[in-house]
Amino acid sequence: MINTPAYVFNLDILQERIDRIKSLIPDIELTFSIKANPFLVPYVHSMVRHLEVCSPGELSICKANSVPPEKIIYSGLLKEAWDITEAVLYGVDIITAESPMQLDLIEKVCAANNKNAKVLLRLTSGNQFGMDEESVLACVKKIGEYSHVELAGIHYFSGTQKVREAKFEADKNNLRSLFDAYKELTGEDVAFLEFGPGAGVEYFDEPSDDKDFANFDVALGLINELKSKVRLGIEMGRFIAAPCGRFETQVKEIKKSKGINYAIIDGGIHHINYFGQIQGMKIPEIKVPAKSGTEKYCIVGSLCTTADVLVREVELPQLSVGDIITFNRCGAYSITEAPNLFLSRRMPCVYVESKELGMTLVRDGLEAYQFNGGKKN
Ligand SMILES: Cc1ncc(COP(=O)(O)O)c(C=O)c1O
Repeated sequence: MINTPAYVFNLDILQERIDRIKSLIPDIELTFSIKANPFLVPYVHSMVRHLEVCSPGELSICKANSVPPEKIIYSGLLKEAWDITEAVLYGVDIITAESPMQLDLIEKVCAANNKNAKVLLRLTSGNQFGMDEESVLACVKKIGEYSHVELAGIHYFSGTQKVREAKFEADKNNLRSLFDAYKELTGEDVAFLEFGPGAGVEYFDEPSDDKDFANFDVALGLINELKSKVRLGIEMGRFIAAPCGRFETQVKEIKKSKGINYAIIDGGIHHINYFGQIQGMKIPEIKVPAKSGTEKYCIVGSLCTTADVLVREVELPQLSVGDIITFNRCGAYSITEAPNLFLSRRMPCVYVESKELGMTLVRDGLEAYQFNGGKKN
């Protein structure tokens, strides 16, 4: 019996998922982007080549879990001298530069600390992240003048939940243009590409691993093409972590109003974040106790907003107060992106489970009020 609301992350499912991904890209270095679920860090780092770490806080999580520095790619849009220093002193394997100024800062930090850094230059896909091709090439030239920074390759990510071929076609064009310009400038091929394909996960209408891997197939076209040109690292968060997590929440009250059966639960949209879910209109994978007789329910959380609807209408075996509803496929981004602090309700417990560890509590329910002015310093 676990305390609800709770996330449960299953490490056997995580390992199976990674094994299946690796079987499709056996000679490619796999990276887990820990923003999707930092609670997996202690376990996942031994399953993959790198962890992509995007903030000083994420770096602290890695340090707290004794992640070997050679497993870390230190990434992120905003880097300052102090956190670059921390990353460099920890000895991370690679640092990404998202701007010429950032590259300069990495060189300065390394020089001040008598260290060297391998750097990936991030190519933009047309937003605030990374640099345009011209700036990347300017950085390539500039690196020649630096003595503490070595060019390791290119970093590229263009968005999450990509399932359409056209998106990968745009990636292909961006990368091809840069690769050609790089060759013209240096006479060499790009040595290494760390590529985040943003492969799509299915959340609604009877999702399955096989449907996910059909999505991955679309990304594989470009991955295989790139693989023939450049040494490749593939970084993913959602596709690796989504299926290993479930969210368990308890029915606290059932009330009928204007003909609708509301099941009020101790979880809500501040805990679960399914990409593409709008006002509970789509039905994610849920499990409830088996009982005779069915009823239509609207499953809602307790936030002070009409948006706190997890499922607008679903036919389920009759629910009772105290029943546990399990929402599957919550292993990525729910724990990091859902707005836990709204309404100062208790944050969920976090458990990991595996055949080896059984069910283990890794974070007890945490009172959110203390972050919202309810705790005197
Ligand atoms: C640079 C970078 N790499 C990888 C990822 C992970 O994306 P996904 O979870 O879609 O695999 C992100 C997500 O924001 C990202 O910004």
